[in-house]
Amino acid sequence: MSYLTTIKRSILESIQDGLLSEETGVLTGLSGEKLVGTLQRLAKNTLTEDTVYLEVGVYQGFTLLSVAKEIGERKAYGIDNFAFFDREGKNFGIVKERIEKLGLTNAFIINKDYEDALENLDKELNGKKVGVYFIDGPHDYRSQLMCLALIKPFLADNAVILVDDSNYRHVRQANRDFLVMHPEFKMVFEAYTSVHPLNLEESARAEHKKGWWDGVNIIVKDPANELTPMYPPTLRDRSLYENDHAVHSTKHPEVVPYAFKLVNWVAPIVYKFSKLKNKKDVIRGKYKAMNVYSEKLVGEKYNDSLPNP
Ligand SMILES: C[S@@+](CC[C@H](N)C(=O)[O-])C[C@H]1O[C@@H](n2cnc3c(N)ncnc32)[C@H](O)[C@@H]1O
Repeated sequence: MSYLTTIKRSILESIQDGLLSEETGVLTGLSGEKLVGTLQRLAKNTLTEDTVYLEVGVYQGFTLLSVAKEIGERKAYGIDNFAFFDREGKNFGIVKERIEKLGLTNAFIINKDYEDALENLDKELNGKKVGVYFIDGPHDYRSQLMCLALIKPFLADNAVILVDDSNYRHVRQANRDFLVMHPEFKMVFEAYTSVHPLNLEESARAEHKKGWWDGVNIIVKDPANELTPMYPPTLRDRSLYENDHAVHSTKHPEVVPYAFKLVNWVAPIVYKFSKLKNKKDVIRGKYKAMNVYSEKLVGEKYNDSLPNP
C-alpha cells in the first residue's frame, strides 16, 4: 500500500474509532480524540527505524505521550519552552512524571523556544528524519509559518504534517501561504469545528473532545507530484495582516496586547464614528478571546486525488 493510502486509512479509522487504545486516566490535555487517534495511527503505520514523530507544543504531554505509547521502539520528540499555559511552572514536571508512570523510554522533551529548537534540530535527531510532524505551539501567523518552513530540511520523503487549531483564520492563512510557496507539499485533509472548545462550558466541550478539537489541516510531502493542490479557505481581505505593521511601528508596541481588554468597550464607539460603520463585512466575535470564526466551515473534507485504501 502506498504511503498516501496509508495516510487516508489512518484518518478514516480515526474518524470511526477515535483513540487507538483506551485512555488509562494518566493522559489529559488540550486535544480531540479524532485528532489524537490520527496522530497515533499515522505514527504507528508510517514511521520506520529512520524516522521519528516530532511535535511543537507539548503542554502536559497528552498528544506526545499518546503517540509515544503506541509506537514501540520508534521515538517521539516534543518541543516546548513551557512559557505559556503554565503559570505555576509545573508542566515540564507533569510531563516527566507521566513519562515515568507510563514506563516510556522513547519520549523526549526539547525544552526550548521552537525557533531555536527547529534551527538546531540536527543536534537532537541523530541523523533521523521527521516522518510525522504535529504543530500545536504558538498560534501567531509568523510562528505558524516558521514552524512549517524550518522543518523542511528535516522531513522524510513521505512525511505528513498535522496543523492543529486550523479553525483560526490566520493559521489557515499560514498553511495556505506555505502550500503556495512550496508546491511539493499538498493538503490532503481538512476538518473544522464551530468554536474554540475553551470557549465552551465543560459539558458542551465533550463533543469537541471526541472530535477534532479546534480544527486541523493535514499536509503531506508529495515529491512525485501525485496529488492535485488543495488549499484551506482564507479571507481575501488582508487588512488584519496589514495591521501587523501598525503594531510594530507604533510608539508603545509592547502595550498593544494590554489594550485588547479595552477593545470590547471602545468598539461600539469606533463602529459608530469611524468608516467601519459603512463596512458590511465587519466580523464581530462572540467571545472575549479565541474567536475562530469557523462556524460556516464545519465538516471534514479529503483531497479528491488522495487514493482510497
Ligand atoms: C495548546 S498547548 C499544546 C497542547 C498539547 N499538544 C496537548 O497535547 O495538550 C501549546 C503549547 O505551546 C507552547 N509554546 C507556545 N509558544 C512557544 C514557543 N515560542 N516555543 C516553544 N513552545 C511554545 C506552550 O508553552 C504550550 O505548552
